[in-house]
Amino acid sequence: MKGLRRVYYDIFSRFYDGFIALHSRDTQGTARTFLVERVPVQNGDSVLDLCTGTDTLLTYLQAKVGPSGQVVGVDFSPGMLKIAERRTRNLPNVVLVRADADSLPFASEIFDAVTCSHAFYELKGETQKRVLQEIVRILRPGGAFLMMEHDVPSNPFVRTLFYFRLAFIGGGLAMTFLRHEQEVLEDYFGRVEKVVAPAGRSKILICQKLCRM
Ligand SMILES: C[S@@+](CC[C@H](N)C(=O)[O-])C[C@H]1O[C@@H](n2cnc3c(N)ncnc32)[C@H](O)[C@@H]1O
Repeated sequence: MKGLRRVYYDIFSRFYDGFIALHSRDTQGTARTFLVERVPVQNGDSVLDLCTGTDTLLTYLQAKVGPSGQVVGVDFSPGMLKIAERRTRNLPNVVLVRADADSLPFASEIFDAVTCSHAFYELKGETQKRVLQEIVRILRPGGAFLMMEHDVPSNPFVRTLFYFRLAFIGGGLAMTFLRHEQEVLEDYFGRVEKVVAPAGRSKILICQKLCRM
C-alpha cells in the first residue's frame, strides 16, 4: 500500500507546483511565508521539514537559520526529492533524506523545530500516530512542531469534496484526527495554538514540546 502511495506522489511531483498554486490560489506562497515566520528558530538552529515535497519551505527555512544552521527535508518520494534537490543544490546547509515519516533515521532530541506543510492530513490514520511519536522523539525539549493544513472549506459542496478526499486517502482514523486535532495534539505536546493564515485558505497548528522539569 505504501508503495502505491509513493508511486502516486512520484507521478504527482510532475504537476505538483502548478496544482498547488491553482488549488490554494496562493501563487506568491504567502501562506508558506506566514508559516516560516512563525517557526521559532534562530541562527545556528536545526529544522526538519517533514514530507517536504518539491521544496516549498526549505529555501525559506535555511535563510532563517543562516549558514551555521541546518535544514533537513524528508520525503519518501524520489520524484518529489529530485525536484527539491535541483532547487536546493546551491544551499550547503540543506540536506535531503529519503525516509518514511513514521520511522525517521535521526537520533532523539536533535531538532529545534519540525514543520509539516499540507501533508499530515494525507497520512493514513495509524501512520499519523507513529509520525507524532517520532516528532516528539526527535524534538529537543521546548522545541516546536508546526503543522500547516487546509482549513475546512466553508462552501458546502467544496467541504463535501474535502471530507471525501480525506476519508479516501487517510481513512476513518484520519477523519477522527481532523475532528479532534487540537485534543489529539495536546496528548503529544504541552501547548497547542491554532492560527489562520491570511492567504491560501490554510491554518497552522503550533505545538510545543514540554521542557523537562
Ligand atoms: C501534498 S505533498 C506536500 C508537500 C509540501 N510539504 C508542500 O507543502 O507543498 C505531500 C508530501 O508528503 C510526502 N509523503 C506522504 N506520505 C509520506 C510518508 N509516509 N513519509 C514521507 N513522506 C511522505 C509525499 O511524497 C509528498 O511529497
